[in-house]
Amino acid sequence: MRRTLFIFLACVFACLQSFAQNSANLAPTPPMGWNSWNVFQTNINEPLLKSMVDAYVSSGMKDAGYTYFVLDDGWMSMERDANGQLVADPKKFPNGMKEFADYVHSKGLKFGIYNCAGTKTCAGYPGTRGHEYEDARLYASWGVDYLKFDWCYADGENAREAYKTMSLALKATGRPIVFSLCEWGTHQPWLWAKDDGQLWRTTGDIGPAFSTDIKRDGWTALCVLSILDRQDSIRQYAGPGHWNDPDMLEVGNGMTYNEDKSHFTLWCMLAAPLMSGNNLHTMSPQTISILTNKDVIAIDQDPLGVECFKYAMTADSVETLVRPLVNGDLAVCFLNRSDKPQKVDFDWSAHSINDAISKTDADFTKTTYKLRELWSKKEMGTTKRPLKQAIPPHDVIMLRLVKQ
Ligand code: GLA
Repeated sequence: MRRTLFIFLACVFACLQSFAQNSANLAPTPPMGWNSWNVFQTNINEPLLKSMVDAYVSSGMKDAGYTYFVLDDGWMSMERDANGQLVADPKKFPNGMKEFADYVHSKGLKFGIYNCAGTKTCAGYPGTRGHEYEDARLYASWGVDYLKFDWCYADGENAREAYKTMSLALKATGRPIVFSLCEWGTHQPWLWAKDDGQLWRTTGDIGPAFSTDIKRDGWTALCVLSILDRQDSIRQYAGPGHWNDPDMLEVGNGMTYNEDKSHFTLWCMLAAPLMSGNNLHTMSPQTISILTNKDVIAIDQDPLGVECFKYAMTADSVETLVRPLVNGDLAVCFLNRSDKPQKVDFDWSAHSINDAISKTDADFTKTTYKLRELWSKKEMGTTKRPLKQAIPPHDVIMLRLVKQ
């Protein structure tokens, strides 16, 4: 009898432990942070990155809710050591990775790192295949809080099994580590990765362009609109603890102010992880104002965790997107996809918004909402009157609708 009770209690304890590490607790809202890839690729080193950590705090990014500081590809030596362990490149990180992780933690941030399910990373550094448990233990010993796990040099591997193995290896460390699957949506991770990780890439790599993809050597970097157009059919798979990841932000990397603003708005409408990817040390006040707009971030971080959907598109290329929020609020974004100024003329009373996923049913003839534009911070009246507003090329009007 005592033995049975002991086994029962042991099982309860194991369940509680696994529950504590369960995905919903690690990312109840989409993770927010910074990643080195979009701006520096493999040209990273300790002094440069420490200056990014410092700027992360002094620029107000940390206060705005960004938490993770993630090193992408290029942090390792080209070979594992004699014991088969990964080592930080001693030229780039002369004090080792634990010291760098401690520096990140000392500023109140969380530390993330990158590797790949294949035999090599995309930039040719040692991959994790066959080393899952030892790599996970190493990361845990450094204090890693987030792992981005890529999909290069993975010929012949089964994606689902490869990501499951790494997920189990991370869980076995006992350290809560956010697991970011980066296999570009090739094997539809939204159908199977919910219990393995907290976010999964849905598409190939983003580039700093709004409406035209960028041809690169042998591959194509996707523009903001191309990525947006590939999200609609998978919105039902995202939710608290498990997010569709349309890739890191390109805000501050060369698009116009309006395009950066729209890109950021759309990612917040999509409940996307917000991983900034720009030089935090040299960013302009405009870039800071975009990345730290608390009202827009609040849309991204809305606890309901429901992604937006495309509600309508007019002939002049103004697209209307709607995101249901907690307490029956709504986020409504008018996006001018064209390169000409357009006019929005939206008579709320002629529309009702229904969404089966969130069970939203907004009938503007019965319920009135107050409108607030989240970039200008202007009150825009209520849904009793049509919204008439000019909208510049590639710009957005981003409204929060609050029930009256
Ligand atoms: C892939 C990923 C990128 C980045 C690079 C690094 O292309 O999708 O986000 O991590 O690898 O080599």
